[in-house]
Amino acid sequence: MPSSFSAELRAQLEACAYPGYVYGYPHKKAYRPLPPVSVVDAWRDEERSRLFAYVHLPFCNQRCSFCNLFTLVPADRSVIRPYLDALTRQMDVYARLIPSGFSRLYIGGGTPTYLEAAELRRLFGDLRRLLGVDPCRTQGCIEASPDTLDAEKVETLAELGIQRLSLGVQSFDLDELQAVNRRFDFIAHREAIDLIARAGFPRFNIDLIYGLPGQTLASWRHSLQQAIDSPANGLFLYPLYIRPLTGLARRSSLDAPTTHQIASMYDLAVDRLRLAGFRQVTMRQFRRDKAEEADDYRCQRDGMLGLGAGARSYTTALHYSTPWRMVARNIRTVIDDYIAADHHWIVHGFRLDADEQQRRHVIQGLLYAGLAPHEADTFPGEFAALEAEGLIERGEHIKLTPRGVRHADIVGGLFFSPRVRSLIAEYEYDT
Ligand SMILES: C[S@@+](CC[C@H](N)C(=O)[O-])C[C@H]1O[C@@H](n2cnc3c(N)ncnc32)[C@H](O)[C@@H]1O
Ligand code: SF4
Repeated sequence: MPSSFSAELRAQLEACAYPGYVYGYPHKKAYRPLPPVSVVDAWRDEERSRLFAYVHLPFCNQRCSFCNLFTLVPADRSVIRPYLDALTRQMDVYARLIPSGFSRLYIGGGTPTYLEAAELRRLFGDLRRLLGVDPCRTQGCIEASPDTLDAEKVETLAELGIQRLSLGVQSFDLDELQAVNRRFDFIAHREAIDLIARAGFPRFNIDLIYGLPGQTLASWRHSLQQAIDSPANGLFLYPLYIRPLTGLARRSSLDAPTTHQIASMYDLAVDRLRLAGFRQVTMRQFRRDKAEEADDYRCQRDGMLGLGAGARSYTTALHYSTPWRMVARNIRTVIDDYIAADHHWIVHGFRLDADEQQRRHVIQGLLYAGLAPHEADTFPGEFAALEAEGLIERGEHIKLTPRGVRHADIVGGLFFSPRVRSLIAEYEYDT
């Protein structure tokens, strides 16, 4: 009789399911209110020499109808200054705990380039002054959208030493963009791409989505070709997830591709990008430059300090963040609470016992660097099922096969604990 893991895998593979983007464990929907823990206690016994610094800037010009990220469309810019002041205060708290221990920097959102050039300069000045974070030495990366870039901002980011700029293009088809409430046009795309290319960032990434409403294999091929012909040396290709409370989830009819059509779009991309000289790094990431990343950050072991409302922090045994909300007025409340907070206390998150830490280690290992053979011993049923389906291969390391990479979200989900599964299932969205 097949194990429950084999049955779960079979059902998901047959449905060609996209159960959700697994890039960390546990998912934020498993976080809950906690009795207060001081940040001093949370970080006391942590290795603090190789941390990832993540800064969240939760502001955008519009709410795209596929997006459930923690972000606000502010009616005016008056919230930016107090938000940056709160970030400075939060950095000041951590400056005493982590004087200079960062090997990576990522500025995400929302749309970080919603900020003006002077505001960006202030943010990077604070990161350097208070936490010793230098974008050049930490492979500093920032996310941007075409509608928020201008020559001054792009030049400022280059001067500040940003090493990687990631541009959310999503599609090169105007109808597809308008169908998901991305109201800017190709002039913005083309101008942004030219400005970024001229500034000469070492790494320039473009995000595209496949499975958009109205998208066909032909229009996807067109978007891919535009990205291949662009100066970008990295691509992130995301299958569309239709998430609760988003504009797409509320639509009564959606002219969206089926999961099997989405899988064909993935196969097309893998083929075309290989022919165009790209190397596939993960299910989503493709790179055209040959250089391997000199990586002194180890995703399985090293922690992450999240700064800002909506940012997550990871210590070995505690993951924490502000609450995650989707409805605009609730997001605003979380941001206002963040602005008013003293940043000394953690009140929302997830505690990882030894079993949860091991699950996280296995998921990160399988999806990224590979696992040592003995690391499969803790989860024999799961690994037997993955091997029977041809999703992993065993050698010096246990790694995903190309079929495993194609179904990375299904593979990751297999290792979610019963507790995390039930917390996710019981999660109540805000109204
Ligand atoms: C924080 S956003 C990127 C920056 C910027 N805000 C923008 O939209 O241009 C990160 C990326 O996640 C992807 N993404 C967000 N929601 C998604 C969804 N529901 N399904 C698939 N991809 C999604 C998009 O490709 C997006 O560019
Ligand atoms: S996809 Fe980007 S621009 Fe659109 S709402 Fe989400 S974070 Fe903002």
